[in-house]
Amino acid sequence: MLNLPSLVANFPLINPSLLACDFTRLGDEIRDAEIAGAKILHLDIMDAHFVPNLSFGIPVVEAIRRSTDLPLDVHLMLDEPWRYIKPFRLAGADMLTVHIEVLPDPRWTLETIHRSGAAAGLAINPPTPVEMLLPFVCECDIVLTMSVMPGFGGQKFDAVALEKLKAIRKAAGKETLLSVDGGVNEKTIAQCASAGANTFVAGTAFFGVIDRKKRMTELYDASKSNDFLKR
Ligand code: DX5
Ligand code: ZN
Repeated sequence: MLNLPSLVANFPLINPSLLACDFTRLGDEIRDAEIAGAKILHLDIMDAHFVPNLSFGIPVVEAIRRSTDLPLDVHLMLDEPWRYIKPFRLAGADMLTVHIEVLPDPRWTLETIHRSGAAAGLAINPPTPVEMLLPFVCECDIVLTMSVMPGFGGQKFDAVALEKLKAIRKAAGKETLLSVDGGVNEKTIAQCASAGANTFVAGTAFFGVIDRKKRMTELYDASKSNDFLKR
């Protein structure tokens, strides 16, 4: 079972997104993230329906599970994600995050994730009004605020995420992982932290450089160079 308090104790969390790694060397890339100091890994699952792209699925999550003890934060960019909670949980997901845009009954879906033994999260896309998500924030272990339209790595950060982060921060508990995903780098990360994020998904910014340890430190330091986390 995921030890959420130990993650919370490590805020701010830099969360490498494996979508940007070299898949021909997946095990080595995971090891590199561990050596760089990652406390969590972000896995992007795409279905070519909810998002216009495909990534990887259950056998790859199983392989990742075998190669690391780090908590696996699995971002389900899927229509009807409730159908895949159990398979991804059995594959080794510790946290399952589903999109509010596709949920007829968010509370039931969060409960179903919790019953599976995983931590539960809701994600929200840039154009979706934050009011859609706010009633369920208290039931989330993680809230994932998208700062790009999901489906592809390497996109430009959309500052529309900042207002959402501020609103979600007010509604969330201090231990909630308030995560931001898309275009997060050493330049955009500080404003996300100021807006209340404590968890930062970094794909290109992390795996796109040779020296991942140095980049991890840069991201970590930049995320702390604001007032919010010092309070
Ligand atoms: C986008 C994914 C992101 C992606 C982020 O659909 O949800 O997690 O991997 O990649 P970067 O950090 O390159 O924007
Ligand atoms: Zn993601």
